[in-house]
Amino acid sequence: MIAASRLARSRSLPEIEYRELRETSDFAGFVCGDSEIDKWARLHALKHHDSKKHLVTVAAFDDAPEQVIGFYALSIVVEKVSNLGGDVPFFAFQDATRCPCLQLSYMAMQKSLQGLEQGTLVLANVIRTFARLGSEIGIPALIVMPGSERARKFYSERGGFEPYAKGSGLFMPLRFAMLTVDAAVD
Ligand SMILES: CC(C)(COP(=O)(O)OP(=O)(O)OC[C@H]1O[C@@H](n2cnc3c(N)ncnc32)[C@H](O)[C@@H]1OP(=O)(O)O)[C@@H](O)C(=O)NCCC(=O)NCCS
Repeated sequence: MIAASRLARSRSLPEIEYRELRETSDFAGFVCGDSEIDKWARLHALKHHDSKKHLVTVAAFDDAPEQVIGFYALSIVVEKVSNLGGDVPFFAFQDATRCPCLQLSYMAMQKSLQGLEQGTLVLANVIRTFARLGSEIGIPALIVMPGSERARKFYSERGGFEPYAKGSGLFMPLRFAMLTVDAAVD
């Protein structure tokens, strides 16, 4: 549970807006504590987004819309159905052993804002995007390969993610994402 002081700090933050990455988005002051992610954000995010290799969404305070305080990057990958618990319904048109998945390739929050539940809100945004894209174009699972034990705990504790049958990945079935989004709308 979030402590009272952190809750107060979290509530005093300006509104956070999400938008697709654009040329004017500024990563210069962005540090999440994982140097590999920081480097990818600064050097590759825009290039990958423009070439459609990743769909990059950035979070910024509404009073400083170009200054990135968090982001996530999604890409399409092909995964073995057997890794996804065998219960991920997908109409396989060629190879029934593999299916396309949405991969949460990167997700990070500015270090000074970590621990204020902002990462949980970014993840909720990821789930909304997955529910929309997944149902529109038929993607049965969102997958993530946590970069550390702490990150693994972050995803596991927020519900909806299940461990791969084999390997260190986690996956969320589309039906969970759709139910979550429907429940939030009701
Ligand atoms: C993971 C991350 C996006 C979570 O954002 P956040 O705003 O700190 O998240 P919340 O405040 O909603 O939730 C706090 C939880 O996040 C996790 N967390 C906090 N700091 C973290 C860090 N540096 N690395 C990984 N997980 C972290 C912990 O599980 C924490 O729970 P706890 O306080 O009970 O230990 C953010 O910490 C981050 O950017 N970490 C570095 C990059 C990273 O690991 N990304 C995921 C790669 S797969």
